[in-house]
Amino acid sequence: MRFIDDIYKPCVEKCKNIQNIPSVLNILDNGKAVLDDDRKCDLYIAFYGGHHFHKLYAAFASTNFPYTESKDIEIIDWGCGQGLATCVLIDYLIENSINPNIISVTLIEPSCLTLNRGYNFTRQMLQSTFSSTCTIRKVNKYIDDLTANDLASDMETIKVHLFSNIIDVEAFSLNKLHRLMLASFQGYNRLICTSPDNGPTYRLDDFYNLFSQSYQLFYSVSSERPIYQKVFYFKSKQYETRRIGRYERQFTVNLT
Ligand SMILES: C[S@@+](CC[C@H](N)C(=O)[O-])C[C@H]1O[C@@H](n2cnc3c(N)ncnc32)[C@H](O)[C@@H]1O
Repeated sequence: MRFIDDIYKPCVEKCKNIQNIPSVLNILDNGKAVLDDDRKCDLYIAFYGGHHFHKLYAAFASTNFPYTESKDIEIIDWGCGQGLATCVLIDYLIENSINPNIISVTLIEPSCLTLNRGYNFTRQMLQSTFSSTCTIRKVNKYIDDLTANDLASDMETIKVHLFSNIIDVEAFSLNKLHRLMLASFQGYNRLICTSPDNGPTYRLDDFYNLFSQSYQLFYSVSSERPIYQKVFYFKSKQYETRRIGRYERQFTVNLT
């Protein structure tokens, strides 16, 4: 896995000797902080990157990605941080020999430094397999401040929306986001929402319900079952099989 070898493990190596774990978790606001320096970004990946990778990989396996083979897709990574969800998706597609035509990746993130790291990681992951046709668009904004102009999109493409550990962040309005999506993304949209299971998970259901009230939803997947996978455990300073709590909602909607 290129994400694990090229992004996660190097950050673990850089950070594994930290002493005061509670103070680091506090600085990162348990992963929810808007990060403003490279050290914090490395720490974020070292602490959470493995968990996010496994949650996302499991979610992607429940989406019918082979359907996208040779089709035009747009990836939109909301509150992308360092673009981990996009990187894991590209890794997943390459590992499974699925070749959509990725027209664009839109990275949305309020921290400029974090967004630039996300841009560089995404470029690194796209490599020669996808890079010739793909534009990476950076949108340096809070979700509440976005307008349809920031999100120009083609009605004919399949839109893959990644909401990795962001719908449960109570810093933006789900109603506003829902309205923005209706105004911006005509056609076929797949929404993939993953979060931990110990926060305001009701927001993932609220978000799903906003769409289901006015549209028929297809291929819904939900999971609240934890997964058990190897990640670096800072207390023992080694890789261990740990419980990874997850709350996942996915669905497809054809916006007209
Ligand atoms: C828990 S992290 C998730 C990051 C990334 N999606 C991932 O899975 O690694 C939350 C991210 O949301 C961003 N964020 C916080 N408030 C936001 C808002 N109102 N709009 C957009 N992004 C926000 C933070 O800067 C941070 O990068």
